[in-house]
This record gives sequence, C-alpha cells and structure tokens, in this order.
Amino acid sequence: MPFNAEKFIEGAVSSIKASVGNGRAIIAVSGGVDSSVAAALASRALGKNIHCMFVDTGLMRKDEGKRVLAMLSRAGVKLDVVDASNDFFSALKGVEEPEKKRKIIGEKFIRVFEAEAKKQKAAYLIQGTIAPDWIESGGGSRDTIKSHHNVGGLPEKMGMKLVEPLRDLYKHEVRITARALGLPPEMSERQPFPGPGLAVRIVGDITPEKAAIVREACFIVEEELEAAAKSGKMELPWQYFAALLPTKTVGVRGDERSYQYTVVVRAVRSLDGMTANFSHVPPEVLQKISTRITNEIREVGRVLYDITNKPPSTVELE
Ligand code: XMP
Repeated sequence: MPFNAEKFIEGAVSSIKASVGNGRAIIAVSGGVDSSVAAALASRALGKNIHCMFVDTGLMRKDEGKRVLAMLSRAGVKLDVVDASNDFFSALKGVEEPEKKRKIIGEKFIRVFEAEAKKQKAAYLIQGTIAPDWIESGGGSRDTIKSHHNVGGLPEKMGMKLVEPLRDLYKHEVRITARALGLPPEMSERQPFPGPGLAVRIVGDITPEKAAIVREACFIVEEELEAAAKSGKMELPWQYFAALLPTKTVGVRGDERSYQYTVVVRAVRSLDGMTANFSHVPPEVLQKISTRITNEIREVGRVLYDITNKPPSTVELE
C-alpha cells in the first residue's frame, strides 16, 4: 500500500496526545527534516505543552541556528536556542574512537535535555528517530553498524519518557509528511544531516579548530553542488558534504613547503541511506570545489573525492 501522509499525521498526532496526556514535552530540532517533522507533529498534538529547542553543539552547519529558526517559524513552530558548544567540546577533548564519541554526544544531549526539561517541568522527550536509525543501531536481530546518537547513544538512566512518532518511517516518507505538514521545500527536501553533527565528519579527535574547518568545507561543497545541479550539469546528490581526515600531507604554497590537513568530499545517491552509490560528479565541478577549499581554508592542502559505495563503506566517515 502506498504511504498515506494524511493518515499517518492523524495517527501520529493522536498517539503523541495519548502518550503525553496533559503533561509537557520537549524536543530538540537539529535542522534536519526528521526532527523538524517530529516538532511540527508535536506542536500540532500538544500546542503550548511542547517546548522546542535548537541545541548548538558547536558541531552544526554554517549559520544553522538562524536558518532553522527562520524555516520553522514559517511552519508556526517556535524555537529556543541553547548554546552548549563549550560543554560538547570539553567532553569530546582527546577522544578518538568513533563509538565512544557517539556515546559521549548522546550522553551530553541527554544532560542538556534533562536540564531543559527541569526548567520546563516536562516529563517527556520527543525524538525524530526513523527506521534506519534503530535498524543500524542493532535493532531486532541485526548487528550494530554504528550507534546513532538518538538510539544506541542514549544513556540507560534517562529521567524522561521517550516518544518517537517517526520510528516506522523511511526518509522519503518523512519528506512526504513534511510537505503535507506545510514545511517549506528548503526543509522538506533538505539533505539528511546526522544527529551527532559534524562530529562524524571529523575522523579522530575533535577540536573547535577542526570543527570550523569541516563546517566551511561542507558549506563550499553544498554551494557548489547545488549550483551545479541548478545549472543542469548534474543531478543533485541525495547527500553531499565534506569530512576532515587527521592525516596531514605535504604540499606547496607559493614557493614554500606546506604540511596540511586532508579533506574528503562525499556525495551519494540513495533512497533511504541504507545503501548508497557515490555520485558521478563532473570533473570540472570537483576541480572548483578543490580550488575553493584549498584557497578559502588555509589549513587544508589536499582534497580527495570518495568513490566508495555503501556497502562496504558507510555514508558518513564515522
Ligand atoms: P551511515 O553513515 O550510517 O549514514 O551510512 C546513513 C544516514 O544516516 C545519517 N546518520 C545519522 N542520522 N543520527 C542520525 O540521526 C546518527 O547518529 C547518524 N549517523 C548517520 C547519515 O548522515 C546518512 O544520511
């Protein structure tokens, strides 16, 4: 049976109402379509009893807070910004192991949520977890590929009850729901962004400096691929971004030897993120991305394009 968004919305709104009753709930919106749809559903279901916030972890996209605030206000969702970047950076300092990083981020998010819930007198946490998130986190009888922060990253002792209205949906169904809820197209058609943010695009330990580099590189990749797709040079990939490797390599700037970071550009075609193929980006577009990244980000001396499919690779680098 084809997915029926109206029917889904009706069911989700009544199930959120039934779960939360006369209580209060909070939700954190990351800027991705999943959490935005969950926030719009929760706002419909709970009215004044939902508190929506944007947690700035220091690992978000460029100008993300402002963009998300503007997009959601057009759909009638009000957002509070919570700046927790110092907290996240100090908890992640010196940690290199990917699963450990994910667990720390999950834990930090929950601590921020708990503090907000206390202020708001809220007993419920609403999250935009979708089917691939829990399937890949070892749901059912499956192996854990990675602990998506909103699933395996949740600490066992959480002082809130969890409500996940999108648990059974796949990404394309979330987009259909977003359109039906009246979210603007720049939100409903937005490429996915992972819950742990730029952390999964920084291989190895995380510092504010590395976050700034990868944030700028992601912005350049987004700008160039969106422009190339708009001018008909290529199809817009399903997801496209940059990641930072811990490896420095030798290069030359002017007449001098340089020893700088390596950035990986990733662009994939996919339906739901469960499998993906790398996009065939025209060489002149890759050339422009490489030139911009090395010119505009002085700490980067080499740019690579990732030509691995999922499987055997995953979409993100961690
Ligand atoms: P992977 O890297 O697992 O990515 O192949 C598949 C899709 O999921 C996104 N992703 C996440 N989304 N929490 C999320 O909400 C997470 O922890 C997470 N990790 C990866 C990724 O961006 C891609 O769209």
